[in-house]
Amino acid sequence: MNANIIRTARTIINVTDLDAAKDFYVNALGFIETENDGEHLYLRGLEEYHHHSLVLKKSSQKGVQALGFKVYSKADLETLAAYFENINCPVKWFNKGDQYALGEAIRVMDPHNIPLEFYYEMETVESYLRRYDKYKGARVQRIDHFNAMVPEVESVHNFFINELGFRCSEYTVTKDNKMWASWMYRKPTVHDLALTNGHGPRLHHFAYFLSDPTSVLNICDVLASLGFSASIERGPGRHGVSNAFFLYLKDPDGNRIELYTGDYYTGDPDFKPLKWDFDDPHRQTLWGHPAPDSWFEEASAFLNVHTGEPVTTKDSVGVQKKPNYAKY
Ligand SMILES: [Fe+2]
Repeated sequence: MNANIIRTARTIINVTDLDAAKDFYVNALGFIETENDGEHLYLRGLEEYHHHSLVLKKSSQKGVQALGFKVYSKADLETLAAYFENINCPVKWFNKGDQYALGEAIRVMDPHNIPLEFYYEMETVESYLRRYDKYKGARVQRIDHFNAMVPEVESVHNFFINELGFRCSEYTVTKDNKMWASWMYRKPTVHDLALTNGHGPRLHHFAYFLSDPTSVLNICDVLASLGFSASIERGPGRHGVSNAFFLYLKDPDGNRIELYTGDYYTGDPDFKPLKWDFDDPHRQTLWGHPAPDSWFEEASAFLNVHTGEPVTTKDSVGVQKKPNYAKY
């Protein structure tokens, strides 16, 4: 399959309280509110000149509607649609305007039950990159990647690498040589989609790039001052994997968002994936401190793109879920 997927482009998530979501994402984190129709919040980062990269839809059903990727052209959309139909993954088409500010799009459940969306055009707006008067909270710059928790990492990894043309930047293997996690990219950074072993498929987190570590630290102070301390789940810290300077937060509905900076360029053809040992404590946190239990257990449900119902999940098979930090 030879479609040109450019990058991670937007997330569509159901939230139960749009006002609470706005308070968290806009008033605290500093996302730019492009539009709010009372049912949807359309948000973007300061650097982004497309209409939005995050849609929060008011709903009593929590969950993630789709992981959105931008493709280069209509021909790429058609190639993807034909490919998925051919492997018995029915494709749901959207005409231009069916989704607000968006051109033609397709949504599909991939063979591992991850809801994917592809599109090639979205309305453009002003980039606020140089509008420093708009810099608030975390000074969120742009969407970067998704991280999905899946029971069988290697088979999902093989699908994205071999069928959708992703490349692997880093990966983790267990002592018995099972793939535990994988970081895969289309744009030349560490990842557009990461896979982590665990009960799933579910969305572990979606991530936004910040311009510097100071922004990561600053948002912790802002969150504390606004009464959002409980939303800080993990960090700030430095991952060994990806070299990211990270912070993980839970939104009012429990969805996990990562704010990070500090990864690196992967675009050359001779770039080779970096292999990590599962029990290496520097892999998850370069400084060595362990992640909380919630990190290994909690994630957001995916919703079926055809029915809107939560996707059936299962436990990981044969792979240890959590590193044994006790030995260090
Ligand atoms: Fe991440």
